[in-house]
Amino acid sequence: MKMSQGAAPSKSNQETLRLHIREIKERHKLPSPPALMTKVLNILKDPNFNVRELSRVISDDPSLASKTLSMSRSPRYAQRFQPQSVHEAILVLGLQSLRSIVVTSAAESFLARKNKISEKLWSHSLGAALAARMLANRVGFADTEMAFLAGLLHDVGEMVLFNSDPRGFEQLVEETQKTQELILRREAQRYGFDHAAVGVALLDFWNIEEEVNEAVLIHHKGSENPAGSLASIIDMADYLCAHAELGFFSECPNPGVAMIRASGCEDEESLTQSIQELRDAFTEESSLFQAA
Ligand SMILES: [Fe+2]
Ligand SMILES: [Fe+2]
Repeated sequence: MKMSQGAAPSKSNQETLRLHIREIKERHKLPSPPALMTKVLNILKDPNFNVRELSRVISDDPSLASKTLSMSRSPRYAQRFQPQSVHEAILVLGLQSLRSIVVTSAAESFLARKNKISEKLWSHSLGAALAARMLANRVGFADTEMAFLAGLLHDVGEMVLFNSDPRGFEQLVEETQKTQELILRREAQRYGFDHAAVGVALLDFWNIEEEVNEAVLIHHKGSENPAGSLASIIDMADYLCAHAELGFFSECPNPGVAMIRASGCEDEESLTQSIQELRDAFTEESSLFQAA
């Protein structure tokens, strides 16, 4: 069975999805989850964890410690006193935001190869994460940090395909941009699976929550996804990224009229404002990450 057009993993085809994930794992060498990310996420899952232990793990990694501190001092968390230690920074950020920083940092290090494609993939991932957080607030999706995570990781399958075949994937991107063909179709032809399917296999391996995985699998289904759902938030984030030129697109995504309206982007003026808001957030956040 081909999942490349993004069939939703309902209970009845969960078994097929498992088989499909196994097949991808056999075919593509999937990178292990970054050790530090696993460590922090495991601590956060433990109902009896203590902040001191968490601070120690983060402080042991200078790059992550510096990102955590910089983020806690950013205008988003406007404080009268600037946090002076990782421990204070965690208290300011809260655990959900801390988790987003840890996963963002892991995703960034995953794209170690520096070239045109990896830079675009990175700016697209961060842009989609920020757009998804902003949209979650607008459409009343309660878990805004889950939306951030889903946006950040929705195209992680492209990172896997690119890392395993840099030249071939670059060529594929160039070709689809020339012909304006859907990248999904070309990926499935060349690699057996498209980036949504490969991404889900990776997220399953990395133990990311099921709700994010399901949304990633169907993020190219457009208006078939109900407005306000996590998948529609990702699609709309893609739409804003295409307008803000964050990433590479062979065609502009179409999240459907209902989602565009629910996101407050139905006319030229409101769309322009939203694009500007996204660009401002991107400039601020990407400088925090580069600074570390
Ligand atoms: Fe995608
Ligand atoms: Fe995307």
